[in-house]
Amino acid sequence: MMIPVNEPLLGERELDYVAECVRTGWVSSAGKFINQFEEQWAAYCGRRHGVAVSNGTVALQLAVACLEVKPGDEVIIPTFTIISCALAVVYNSAVPVLVDCDPQTWCMDVQQVEEKISPRTRAIMPVHIYGHPVDMDPLLDLSNKYGLAIIEDAAEVHGAEYLSGRGASHPAWRRCGSFGTMSSFSFYANKLITTGEGGMVLTDDPQIAEKARSLRNLCFQPDRRFYHEELGSNFRLTNLQAALGLAQLERMNEILARKRWLGAEYTRRLKDIRGLQLPVEEPWARNVYWMYGVVISEEREMDADLLAQKLKERGIETRPFFLGMHEQPAFHKRGLFLNERYAVAERIARQGLYLPSGLALTEDQMTQVCDAMHEVLG
Ligand SMILES: Cc1ncc(COP(=O)(O)O)c(C=O)c1O
Repeated sequence: MMIPVNEPLLGERELDYVAECVRTGWVSSAGKFINQFEEQWAAYCGRRHGVAVSNGTVALQLAVACLEVKPGDEVIIPTFTIISCALAVVYNSAVPVLVDCDPQTWCMDVQQVEEKISPRTRAIMPVHIYGHPVDMDPLLDLSNKYGLAIIEDAAEVHGAEYLSGRGASHPAWRRCGSFGTMSSFSFYANKLITTGEGGMVLTDDPQIAEKARSLRNLCFQPDRRFYHEELGSNFRLTNLQAALGLAQLERMNEILARKRWLGAEYTRRLKDIRGLQLPVEEPWARNVYWMYGVVISEEREMDADLLAQKLKERGIETRPFFLGMHEQPAFHKRGLFLNERYAVAERIARQGLYLPSGLALTEDQMTQVCDAMHEVLG
């Protein structure tokens, strides 16, 4: 039996809420759990409106669509991220423009953003990576200075917090997902809160929320249903999925405590391994350790593939880090990112992987993982 890289933690309440959908017949995209999940997730993140959708990929696509970008407009994204971010831009006929990542947090290097701003730039899409927030204040400053939208991809940081306004008289901790024009979430099974598959767009702007609701639902018109003034999609979430999400949200504190314990415990047990970089927690951040990533120093003469292989032989499943968007043949074929190089993203893509980090990971399993790490790298 392998120790899985992720296993969700589902309980009786999840079963009760989903069973209620089945018993009452509210299994599709209408029903009370959708509204409750949207309202409560938005409130939890400090936002006014939530628009639930089928997954995190379409949540990003919908968010970019709500900006009404024109063909050739540019959106700045980190190269070190999931392809969903770049797809959201490309599927809206806009152009993704890349920046490298920070070597400590692995999030977008915010110092590199300003030099990538052009007259065509419409938005910045910061992506909080593996549980650690992006340094948002410099991006909010750029957003004000150049009139750019911000779409925060908070798929991997449910419940994480960021200390905003550090230079000001009243710095304040704010949840990730509460910044900028819109934020986007995924509720895939490996996320802190899951709906199986699912996502959400959050915003404080009622007009954007209305637009997102319309685009999610084929742009049906309330008074003339089959008459369409815009092209939308079916990105709806089901009541069944929202029921699962609501039950999960009701145990958010327990989930967060478990993730924080997991992060601290891994760090305590692995910190003495030479040439192994562990996740950080900047003084301005509260990391939720969505996935516990490690990066092996090149001096160890081992890359992440070899480490993954050795861990697999010891019954431990891992996942490689993201491969940067500038290294993807799918984009090269379209003439994007040709000959672009981003040194940090390239190094961590080859030297980084994440260890089993699911909510159902037991202390015994963690001991096995850490023993194997010491055996292989000790
Ligand atoms: C940062 C980030 N954004 C977007 C997504 C896409 O979400 P989904 O898998 O729900 O489409 C993911 C998925 O895991 C992600 O990690």
